[in-house]
Amino acid sequence: MSVRIAVLASGEGSNLQAVLDAVAAGELEAEVVAVLSDKPSARALERADEAGVSTAVASFAPYRAGGLPREAYDADLARLVAAFEPDIVLLAGFLRVLSPAFLDVFPGRVINLHPALPGAYPGLHAIRRAWEAADGAASETGVMVHVVVPEVDAGPVLGVRAVPVDEGMSLEALEQRVHEAEHALLVQVLRKLSSTREAPGAEA
Ligand code: GRF
Repeated sequence: MSVRIAVLASGEGSNLQAVLDAVAAGELEAEVVAVLSDKPSARALERADEAGVSTAVASFAPYRAGGLPREAYDADLARLVAAFEPDIVLLAGFLRVLSPAFLDVFPGRVINLHPALPGAYPGLHAIRRAWEAADGAASETGVMVHVVVPEVDAGPVLGVRAVPVDEGMSLEALEQRVHEAEHALLVQVLRKLSSTREAPGAEA
């Protein structure tokens, strides 16, 4: 039986696409059982539709309007995700921080992809910040996949890939290089998890 992956994504979904492509090519023994988004306009949802994968939208707006805390949203989102019975919940560009109200429903089984090395540039615009720090000189950044904990872009590391920053490299070129590294690392980590069939947290 292949590993069941639910993907949460807010935007473009190029990492989702890398996973869908790897599954379709037989390079990853897994099933993407659902793609959920907090943004109805996310391109990731179209990619899921194109691949015949179930989708759902869970917008935070009604909770905000009702004065409800993010934990209420997180608990409802967890119920929605749990209905697809995933082994792994993959955050692939999901732009909301999830509280224990979500994480405790899938202990050690929520994983995230971050475009920086462990401990470097948590939060938004990580690629830009690494590029600015290099200031035109040759440098290094990277990408990581980790188990999600309440602290943003931290938690047990499942895989890392270094990405060189060339001297004088443009931000756009670095972004492209980082995204290519993410796509490859993500599939590699999922392949390892699917072959061991262990909970991600157990591997870290
Ligand atoms: C990626 O850089 C990922 O590391 C970050 O958000 C971005 C999502 O890209 N968390 P995409 O939507 O998968 O193209």
